[in-house]
Amino acid sequence: MSKFPKALIVLLSAGVALPAFAADGGKLGLGRPATQEEVSAWDIDVRPDGTGLPEGHGTVAEGEVLFTDNCAFCHGDFGEGIGRWPVLAGGQGTLTHERPEKTVGSYWPYLSTVYDYVRRAMPFGNARSMTGDEVYALTTYILYLNDIVTDEDFELSKENFTDIYLPNEANFISDSRYDEPFNTEKHQPCMTDCKAEPAKITMCARILDVTPSSVEDDGAGTVD
Ligand code: HEC
Repeated sequence: MSKFPKALIVLLSAGVALPAFAADGGKLGLGRPATQEEVSAWDIDVRPDGTGLPEGHGTVAEGEVLFTDNCAFCHGDFGEGIGRWPVLAGGQGTLTHERPEKTVGSYWPYLSTVYDYVRRAMPFGNARSMTGDEVYALTTYILYLNDIVTDEDFELSKENFTDIYLPNEANFISDSRYDEPFNTEKHQPCMTDCKAEPAKITMCARILDVTPSSVEDDGAGTVD
């Protein structure tokens, strides 16, 4: 049974041209340019400097109700995580422990990631179902669960969003590798005949014993 819809097969076999659109420059006659609305529906990223935040606001108290109804059965009433669902609160001071508890409060660098992530991906299984205001309220409530805001009347909005700093931000550093001499001084990376010396084979994998020669070879395959 072909996976092609029958109507399409009929069209193709009859040599009927499908409508030509401009998205692929007309080469294949497929697609059409995305509309402005379609682009904005996908273009929802929020940056640490607040770029991309929608207008809106939400309080801790509003977030608590939303969280209880939509999030707590996986993440727990206090963000403690039910079963193996992720923990959202606590863990401060554990990053140097053997088993650090990485949460929004203990690990995440920017609040914008919380807004972006919740709006884009949560509730798990029903993503993109919360309004902009609801996501503000949920983000505020996650701050409250992490003791980053303590007043139940606190309202987070587009206006005060970038005033909030997460405790671990300073431990993240910018990636400066492109500014380092290794990169800046190497104007033209070598692309041909770059090998100064021919490579020397020093040992074969078989002799190194990385590949077991047969199943009976007890212990073969281990490299100590
Ligand atoms: C059905 C269970 C479920 C529900 C309900 C749910 N989540 Fe999640 N949540 C998850 C899972 C699973 C992940 C991890 C997803 C991954 O890593 O890909 C997650 C991750 C998160 C994270 C990131 C945690 C981290 O440190 O990586 C946040 C924040 C979050 N959820 C918030 C929410 C909020 C707010 C709601 C309610 C609107 C919600 N979740 C509802 C299952 C759920």
